[in-house]
Amino acid sequence: MSADINTDQLNQEYQGQSPQEILEHAFKQFDNIALSFSGAEDVALIEMASKITDRLQVFSLDTGRLHPQTYRFIEKVRKHYNIDIELISPDATEVEALVKKKGLFSFYEDGHNECCSIRKIAPLRKKLATVDAWITGQRKDQSPGTRSQIPIIESDPTFSGINGSLTKFNPLANMSSKDVWDYIWMFDVPYNELHDQGFISIGCEPCTRATRPNQHEREGRWWWEEATAKECGLHVGNIQKI
Ligand code: ADX
Ligand code: SF4
Repeated sequence: MSADINTDQLNQEYQGQSPQEILEHAFKQFDNIALSFSGAEDVALIEMASKITDRLQVFSLDTGRLHPQTYRFIEKVRKHYNIDIELISPDATEVEALVKKKGLFSFYEDGHNECCSIRKIAPLRKKLATVDAWITGQRKDQSPGTRSQIPIIESDPTFSGINGSLTKFNPLANMSSKDVWDYIWMFDVPYNELHDQGFISIGCEPCTRATRPNQHEREGRWWWEEATAKECGLHVGNIQKI
């Protein structure tokens, strides 16, 4: 709806507000807004949003490399909330070309960017070009290396929406992992069974591992790479900000 919003000013305004209040603003400001669901603890956002709106648009990037548990979980969420979840696949020709040339695990040798760019970024760019705004489950405490500055609302620094501009909401930005889990327990929200097996942050199966006690959750993602490079490109603006 309203493209001409001052995101810096709104970001200041929203700082003390709850994720639910922020979601209310988001759905009030935009009709064509989509929630990106990774199949992990960001399910809390679906629980919150489903109590606010009945026109919830949810999508997941199906990289083809997610854990079987995550696929089962996405299905569970779809049924539990009685919502459509759009599963977005990468371009088959691009995937086939990459796999033919470099095999199925090239990211361990030359970094995750090439594979992420085909399996996640290109499909995300295509999806975001159909909306005015999107909602993510990013939090500051998820990655000290890249996310400590994330705003609650911003003009997306990376992608464009249907009318050129794109607004990005991060309603959980100021919540801690504990806050999110307290919410999940309190409202009996379904969660990915991998969380019971030591996984904190969950992405693609080959690039995610369980973490040991006192390891930061981000150490379970792309563990062979530098902490400051651990953005797959979905939120690459985080790297430009530091
Ligand atoms: S990632 O960039 O490192 O993969 P992370 O797993 O921390 O992201 O998740 C942060 C937010 O990015 C999620 O709450 C979700 O909004 C979005 N996201 C991450 N992975 C996906 C995915 N496969 N499909 C849709 N959204 C995703
Ligand atoms: Fe490929 Fe790993 Fe990125 Fe998934 S997280 S798209 S498997 S490099």
